[in-house]
Amino acid sequence: MKNIHLCDFLCYTNFTVLCEKENEGVRMEFKTGSEDIDSWEEVILVYSAALRQIETKMEILNDEFQHVHQYNPIEHIKSRIKTPESIVKKLKRNGRESTIENMVKYVNDIAGIRIICSFTSDIYRIADMIGEQRDIKVISVKNYITFPKASGYKSYHMIVTVPVYLSDRIVDTKVEIQIRTVAMDFWASLEHKIHYKFEGDAPEHIKSELIECAKMVSDLDARMLSLNEEILNISNGEKSMHFNSEETAG
Ligand code: GTP
Ligand code: MG
Repeated sequence: MKNIHLCDFLCYTNFTVLCEKENEGVRMEFKTGSEDIDSWEEVILVYSAALRQIETKMEILNDEFQHVHQYNPIEHIKSRIKTPESIVKKLKRNGRESTIENMVKYVNDIAGIRIICSFTSDIYRIADMIGEQRDIKVISVKNYITFPKASGYKSYHMIVTVPVYLSDRIVDTKVEIQIRTVAMDFWASLEHKIHYKFEGDAPEHIKSELIECAKMVSDLDARMLSLNEEILNISNGEKSMHFNSEETAG
């Protein structure tokens, strides 16, 4: 079986539909034909499958981590498929026509997964583990932790593709992965609500208060991380003391 990208696959299916229709002597427009609905359903099916695959991969990594290190790097996972309204809005915002081909080519976050973890060190651990999976291809990375947005937003973003195995072909499908700590997520959800409420034009004092809170989030994350490291060092010390005394006794 040949690996193809979703947009190639769509071009191919649309082309087939067009040929069939031409044979019947029917002219058709992709944007309005009922075949688009079939394609739409097929596209969503493929994106949902890709999302499920990434979710399962993350659950497996988390279980294995628990087994090896006795702790879970992932607190919880949220995932969603972008609504048709948001897809159309995004295409319009970028000055593109609302076609299935454009959405597959230009909208990278149709399938989105958010991985929430306890500590900043977990973020990089998870990102590395994702990058090392043989069937996942990392298309791009945006590190808003090292380089936060002007709003104060922090998170680690990856666009990856994962192969979806259908009955007769393999479709490489894009998924947006956002990795952040519980504290970063808390900040981002409130900021998102405020952004939405004021349609992106929040009063200055609210914006500066949010930036102030973002600093507190970074400080909290750093302090929690160093506390955790201290606790780990103490328990590792206890373990090796226990191990040494067993060796002496045995
Ligand atoms: P979008 O068009 O918003 O998808 O942005 P983009 O394609 O330029 O990518 P970017 O990495 O900037 O943002 C992707 C996603 O990250 C957004 O859809 C949001 O979910 C989240 N995000 C980015 N910036 C912010 C921010 O300032 N505040 C919050 N709350 N979320 C953000
Ligand atoms: Mg988005």
